[in-house]
Amino acid sequence: MNRHTLIAGAIATLAALTFQQTAHAEPKYDKSLERGRYLLIVGGCNDCHTPGFAESGGKLEPKQWLTGSDVGFQGPWGVTYPSNLRTLAASLNEKEWLQRARTPMRPPMPSPSLMIMTVEDLKSVYRYIRHLGAAGNAAPEYVPPGQPVTTAVINFVPVKPL
Ligand code: HEC
Repeated sequence: MNRHTLIAGAIATLAALTFQQTAHAEPKYDKSLERGRYLLIVGGCNDCHTPGFAESGGKLEPKQWLTGSDVGFQGPWGVTYPSNLRTLAASLNEKEWLQRARTPMRPPMPSPSLMIMTVEDLKSVYRYIRHLGAAGNAAPEYVPPGQPVTTAVINFVPVKPL
């Protein structure tokens, strides 16, 4: 075996190894899904957007996640309802999702959290929600202050002890 054959052999082995590694490391898409799932959990998104999630101690199956809630949050802003993110993600393309995420939302939605999320992270969150597929019904419409409310609400106005 001369030097050239050796070098060619080494290159071929390296190429094969690199190929194996790329083939092994799942496509970027799956990593992004895993990241999206992680961000939804650490972001506490289910606590408001998934009915019964907090009560279950976070034990609901992902297929039950993010279908929105018909229990409103009442405060000086009126009454807001955690939206159905499953139908929302299914109805928006990625660009529209990014625009929506960067548009201010009413309390108690932690809008500042979405505002500082990187574009890559927002895309991962979007991909994960889309991967869950559309499910559930639309949450009730926002009710401005002073308008009649027909659903159960959680009151966000501080009350002093008697
Ligand atoms: C404390 C409760 C709460 C938490 C936690 C929360 N949200 Fe929300 N979210 C809401 C409410 C309430 C609204 C409706 C706001 C409005 O009417 O302006 C909303 C609205 C949204 C919307 C806009 C939906 C639409 O129909 O346009 C998106 C997107 C969203 N939330 C994503 C998230 C993500 C992602 C997380 C986790 C990082 C999260 N939310 C965490 C309560 C919450």
